[in-house]
Amino acid sequence: MKAVVYHGPHDLRYEEVPDPQIRHSQDIIVRVTAAAICGTDLHILHGTLPGMKPGTILGHEFVGVVEQLGPDVTSLQEGDRVLVPTTIACGWCFFCRRGDFSQCDNATPSKTPGWFGGPEQAGAYPGGQAELVRVPFANTGPLVIPDALADEEAVMLTDVFPAGFMAAELAGIRPGDVVVVFGCGPVGLCAQKSARLLGATRVIAVDGIEERLDLARQENQAETIDFRKTDPVQAIRERTGGLGAESCIDAVGAEAVNREGKHQPIQALLWAVEAVRKAGTIAVVGSYGQEAAHFPLVQAFSKNVTWRQGVCNHRTYIPRLIAYVLSGQVDPAFLLTHVLPLDDVLVGYDLFNRRDQGCIKAVLQTAPEELG
Ligand SMILES: NC(=O)c1ccc[n+]([C@@H]2O[C@H](COP(=O)([O-])OP(=O)(O)OC[C@H]3O[C@@H](n4cnc5c(N)ncnc54)[C@H](O)[C@@H]3O)[C@@H](O)[C@H]2O)c1
Ligand SMILES: [Zn+2]
Ligand SMILES: [Zn+2]
Repeated sequence: MKAVVYHGPHDLRYEEVPDPQIRHSQDIIVRVTAAAICGTDLHILHGTLPGMKPGTILGHEFVGVVEQLGPDVTSLQEGDRVLVPTTIACGWCFFCRRGDFSQCDNATPSKTPGWFGGPEQAGAYPGGQAELVRVPFANTGPLVIPDALADEEAVMLTDVFPAGFMAAELAGIRPGDVVVVFGCGPVGLCAQKSARLLGATRVIAVDGIEERLDLARQENQAETIDFRKTDPVQAIRERTGGLGAESCIDAVGAEAVNREGKHQPIQALLWAVEAVRKAGTIAVVGSYGQEAAHFPLVQAFSKNVTWRQGVCNHRTYIPRLIAYVLSGQVDPAFLLTHVLPLDDVLVGYDLFNRRDQGCIKAVLQTAPEELG
C-alpha cells in the first residue's frame, strides 16, 4: 500500500510500504477513505516533536471502512464506516473507565498517551495517512459514523474538534465569561466554537493570519485581535475593563511567534498569563516540549491562576460532538479549505505548512470523485 512515511525533519515521503496485519485479537484493519493533516504533523515535519522514529507512517486524523476484524472484536462489523479517535485507549484500565482515555495505562509501555503516527514515547503506532491502518483496542476506540455525516465532516471529529472542546471545558466557562483563545488554527477555531456551546458570552480570538481571524469572526462570532497590528495583552485588558479575561486558552503550542513574526516558543503562554484576570483559568492544549521549561510560574502563582492542560480524551467527547453535528448546531466542515486525493498528500503538507491559498485544514480522500 501507499503511505506517508517520516524519514526525518523536512523529509516526508509518500511511498510503498507493507500492508498492516492483525496482531492482537481486538485489532481491526481500516481502509482509509479520508485523512487530515494537523498542526501536530507540522511539529513532526519541522522536527520540533522529539522522539520520532524514521520509518513511522504519519497521520492521526482519519476515517474509513472496516476491512478485517480480529477474533475478539464484537462492537463492529466488516464494512462499517468508522471514525477513529486520535488517542489510543484500551477501555478497561482505571483511567479509561474514568473517561481519561488519553491517560490509558495499556496504550504504551511507558503508560504515557498513545496516538497514531506519533513518536516512540507515544507508541510509534503506524498512522492513517495511508491506504490501510491497523487500529488496536477496536472495541473501544472506533465509532460507527452516522449516515448523515460525510467523511470530511467526520474526520474533523477525530482530533481537532474534541481537542478544541476539551480546551473549552478545561477553561471552566461560566455564563457571562470572556474567553480568550490564542490561535485560530483548526484547534483554536474549534475551541472558540466550543466556548460558545458551553455558554461563553464573549470570545476574543488572537492570531496573526487575517483569513483565520476572518473565520473566527464569521463562524464563531468572535471579537478578533491581530497581534501583528495590536498588542494583544493591552487590547484584552482594555476590552475587559482593565480586569483581564476569565479564561485564556492556548491553542498555539511550541511553534508560536512573537509580534515581529519571530519564533518564540512560549509566546502564547506568556500572553495568556498577562491577559488572564486574577483568579482566572488558563487552559493549555497547544503541545510543548522542553521549551516550556522557562515558563512564568511565579507570576501565574501570585495571580492565583487555575492551570489546566493536557492531551485530549478524544473518546470521551466524540459521541457528544456527533450529537451537536446531527442536531445542526455545528458544521464541522467549516474549517475545511482543501480536499485533495491521497496521492497528493505531500502537496497538502506544503499548502498547510506555508499557510498557502488560505489553507486552514486539508483533507486527503482516497476516492474524491465520489464526493458529494
Ligand atoms: N492537546 C491535544 O490533545 C492536541 C490535539 C490536537 C492538536 N494539539 C496542538 O494544538 C496546537 C494547534 O493545532 P492546530 O492544528 O490548530 O495548528 P496550527 O499550526 O494550524 O495553528 C496554530 C495557530 O497559532 C497561530 N499563532 C502563532 N503564534 C501565535 C501567538 N503568539 N498567539 C496567537 N496565535 C499564534 C498561528 O498563526 C496559527 O494560526 C498544536 O500545538 C497542536 O500540536 C493538541
Ligand atoms: Zn490532529
Ligand atoms: Zn485504558
